[in-house]
Amino acid sequence: VVQSRFFDPSWLQMQPHVPMSFVWPKECLVDANEEFHAPMVDLGGFLRGDDDEATSRAVRLVRKACSSHGCFQVINHGVDSRLIREAYDQMDAFFKLSIRRKVSARKTPGSVWGYSGAHADRFSSKLPWKETLSFPFHDNNELEPVVTRFFNNTLGEDFEQAGVVFQNYCEAMKQLGMKLLELLAISLGVDKLHYKDLFEEGCSVMRCNFYPSCQQPSLALGTGPHCDPTSLTILHQDQVGGLDVFADNTWQTVPPRPDALVVNIGDTFTALSNGRYKSCLHRAVVNKYKERRSLAFFLCPKEDKVVRAPEDIVRRDGTKQYPDFTWSSLLEFTQKYYRADEATLQNFT
Ligand code: SIN
Ligand code: FE2
Repeated sequence: VVQSRFFDPSWLQMQPHVPMSFVWPKECLVDANEEFHAPMVDLGGFLRGDDDEATSRAVRLVRKACSSHGCFQVINHGVDSRLIREAYDQMDAFFKLSIRRKVSARKTPGSVWGYSGAHADRFSSKLPWKETLSFPFHDNNELEPVVTRFFNNTLGEDFEQAGVVFQNYCEAMKQLGMKLLELLAISLGVDKLHYKDLFEEGCSVMRCNFYPSCQQPSLALGTGPHCDPTSLTILHQDQVGGLDVFADNTWQTVPPRPDALVVNIGDTFTALSNGRYKSCLHRAVVNKYKERRSLAFFLCPKEDKVVRAPEDIVRRDGTKQYPDFTWSSLLEFTQKYYRADEATLQNFT
């Protein structure tokens, strides 16, 4: 069980040596020695719906990227840059709070929502050098939208504005995510609305990642190597940089670009493409000088709907690569890996 002081980012930041529980195995720490040339997909023409040539170009780039490593970037994505800045401001305000206050917005045992420090990665017992704040998002017509409710319930009045900003941010991400599903469907040769029904009412996940600086960055990792279990991840990273993608058998660093969003294919979409599209293997490294932040939105299918590759694709491929499953069953399976964290959090109750 991790000591409670490890949850204080300033405590982490001040450590001259990385505590053993945060040291990762050598094979995970191999340096990224080149830049990742993630295809830059200009979504302008496709989103306007008036430029077939631009759409075909976008489709070709997406198909190539997803078939090889599962990662591409988008520009002219329609998300207001002010909204992204506001989201960072609000997350900064949250992570600056006292440890006690942050922990009050903590995960309840068995749930993935709320604050977490050093939660165990699903592929390793080594601890990530980061703190996170996660909350659910789904479209609802209720008076109080779901994200606003989360902030009001866990952090109260001071974070009312944060609730509004993140509700808007999640709505923008969901809208973009649904358009990306159309682009992916076209790129796989199926009807562009094929995936709409599965995702429209799904409960997605928003996660703010805060990575303190680290005196020995070559021993620690912000997030260990992993593939996202969800379908699509839409990520914005700040200008510090630290996202690496595993491509062509090496770790390659994704240079930050303020106007771009990184899109990663996750395990669920791999199944939905009958294995044609790769789930992106990625990690986040830390550095000695600067804290780093990123905003990750995970687009998820409706919990109880069956995840199954389109019949057209299966027929063309000749075999069905994955059994049918539901997102809720996969989620239950992945949550087993978060138990270490829950044990630690008991210290605060
Ligand atoms: C993650 O994949 O969980 C985080 C990636 C990042 O912070 O860049
Ligand atoms: Fe990830």
